[in-house]
Amino acid sequence: MNKMKLGIIFGGQSGEHEVSLMSSTSIINVIDREIYDLTLIGITKTGKWLLYNGEIDKIKTGEWEDEGINIFLSLDPDYKGLFTINNCHREFYQLDIVFPVLHGPKGEDGTIQGLFEVLQIPYVSSDVMSSALGMDKAFSKKLFEYAGLPILRYQVYSKNQFAAEKENTVKNIEEELGYPCFVKPCNLGSSVGISKAHNRSELYEAIKTAFLYDNRIIIEEFVNAREIELSILGNETPEVSVPGEIVYAKEFYDYEAKYFDNKGTKLIIPAPIPEPVVERIQEVAIKAYKTLNCSIFARADFFYDEVNDKIYINELNTIPGFTHGSMYPKLWEAAGISYTKLVNRLLELAIERHSNK
Ligand SMILES: Nc1ncnc2c1ncn2[C@@H]1O[C@H](COP(=O)(O)OP(=O)(O)O)[C@@H](O)[C@H]1O
Ligand SMILES: [Mg+2]
Repeated sequence: MNKMKLGIIFGGQSGEHEVSLMSSTSIINVIDREIYDLTLIGITKTGKWLLYNGEIDKIKTGEWEDEGINIFLSLDPDYKGLFTINNCHREFYQLDIVFPVLHGPKGEDGTIQGLFEVLQIPYVSSDVMSSALGMDKAFSKKLFEYAGLPILRYQVYSKNQFAAEKENTVKNIEEELGYPCFVKPCNLGSSVGISKAHNRSELYEAIKTAFLYDNRIIIEEFVNAREIELSILGNETPEVSVPGEIVYAKEFYDYEAKYFDNKGTKLIIPAPIPEPVVERIQEVAIKAYKTLNCSIFARADFFYDEVNDKIYINELNTIPGFTHGSMYPKLWEAAGISYTKLVNRLLELAIERHSNK
């Protein structure tokens, strides 16, 4: 049997470059080499694409970049893949499928998905539109609202809009959302550029910070709630996992709590919440996935306000963290699907979606 040629793409230009190196190392180590021939493609923080043939351990440390070889994408549909050029000699690497293990902008936001659509190569992630919607906190909220899903109250402003009417805008935020409130760039992740504002001066500061990262920002009412996450898997008939809970030591689940606070941040699986609440969250998770027309996989993040018995969907992450210790695979492990099986399933789902087009 001919092996499938699988390209794993790691790194990327977003703030989650390092997370991607960790997720992809875990994935590379479980790929069944009897079925797949692997081509490793790294993207540096400056956006350079490099072919990597070295040791897997050097991906996490960043040393892979020193051994990377410049690559060129083939735009010929009869030769899907990439090639290297050495002394006028071209070496071709066929790609039957790619797994962009990239988080955040230019990886999870539909841009790289568009590239693979153009190249006609199946890829492991939601399609262009769903990825872009999943990444954009304002548009995903608007659609969730339209679908009648429970969300927190929010307002969206562009840089120009805010600059033109600062005082009225701030007054409006105070009246409609109150303090504390959360201020976020619309298109980012990893809690970068996000602040909790407790008063007017903090609000001005928070808005300034968020605008450093994006031309559009979203401001949300604060909810004192537990943070619950679920894993979703599938194309036309997606399945949902049990919920997991994130418990952290900081004031909110910020960048440090997410990636550096080994002691303070814990994942509790399954989340100790009442069964009827679990069912409600699962139902909303699937509806949210369908609302954004997601495919293959996504992690749905919720707030659970125990005191008022309310749930709110916060976001869908279309390429969730994927190390062995990450919430997404751990939730499936709880359902008896091992990490290795899960990776295989994702690849199958990508092929299935591509062949149904
Ligand atoms: N409206 C809110 N109320 C309470 N906490 C919030 C709110 N919005 C965000 N947070 C906190 O900030 C964290 C990051 O916000 P989130 O919207 O998930 O952005 P990101 O895409 O960067 O993960 C959340 O996990 C949560 O701890
Ligand atoms: Mg989040």
